[in-house]
Amino acid sequence: MLKRWSAAVLSGLLVLGAMGACGGENEAGSNGGNADDGKITMGFAQVGAESGWRTANTKSIQEAAAAAGIDLKFSDAQQKQENQIKAIRSYIAQKVDVIAFSPVVESGWDTVLKEAKDAKIPVILTDRAVDSKDTSLYKTFIGSDFVLEGKKAGEWLVKEYQGKTDTVNIVELQGTTGSAPANDRKAGFGDVIKADPKFKVIASQTGDFTRAKGKEVMEAFLKANPKIDVLYAHNDDMGLGAIEAIEAAGKKPGVDIKIITVDAVKDGMTALAAGKINFIVECSPLLGPQLMDLAKKVVKGETVEQRVLTEETTFTPEQAKAALPDRKY
Ligand code: AHR
Repeated sequence: MLKRWSAAVLSGLLVLGAMGACGGENEAGSNGGNADDGKITMGFAQVGAESGWRTANTKSIQEAAAAAGIDLKFSDAQQKQENQIKAIRSYIAQKVDVIAFSPVVESGWDTVLKEAKDAKIPVILTDRAVDSKDTSLYKTFIGSDFVLEGKKAGEWLVKEYQGKTDTVNIVELQGTTGSAPANDRKAGFGDVIKADPKFKVIASQTGDFTRAKGKEVMEAFLKANPKIDVLYAHNDDMGLGAIEAIEAAGKKPGVDIKIITVDAVKDGMTALAAGKINFIVECSPLLGPQLMDLAKKVVKGETVEQRVLTEETTFTPEQAKAALPDRKY
């Protein structure tokens, strides 16, 4: 009897420990799911706070949950898969009504997703995909087409260098290794530029989607490569960090080195309008309202589409100047 009691206390402590380790878990939403008050409880496991995009995404989710009357439990995984897995397990233990998360990397989710399925808690993927073969492990996936974003970046480059024959040396700042946007943006871009052998990717390395790492890696690229014509950065933040490195090396960003980025957050758009970036492919972080609608439907047991795509555009410097006054993020 005593043994069983100790085991129960121990497992309770483990769950509390896991919740504490999630970091940034908010206090709001103390009731578990399946509550009698009819309010939906959502557990959301965020990637981190690595970029301007991510900050805008978190704000969108928190504001949309409040507007929809959804009780949100929020955790920040600080770009670590193990933290996201702990957060999801704690949401399962708390019996939330629905779990949503943006997977930091694509692989390694099957076990924890199966645990959620066994606990009959629906899961919604937002922003980033998982590579699980079993698509019954989640109800829907809302987010951008990252391959298409990479293609749009490549298409701009092809047009920009149309009719020219000299070799174009490209350096690439990749997003977080193993993440869907890094894999797909690289693939989409590569698919388009491979048709013309004058385009050469001479260096490609991760900058982890952060400004600091983007700057650090660009400094190394500049030291190792005397002739860089183009920088393709998988997000604005890495591009902005790289701009600092380019200027410190005495070169003019946007002129000596042409720059393409993805996201179109305010800081990126400001640099684009100033001519320091040449082209931005938009990736919308404003997923909150659609996510809450989907959550209400899956909790009610309604069928939802397996894939919900976000609508996006691209920006030239002129278009950035026109869009900036109304830019929300
Ligand atoms: O998953 C979306 C990507 O993650 C954004 O493009 C990047 O800025 C963020 O960190």
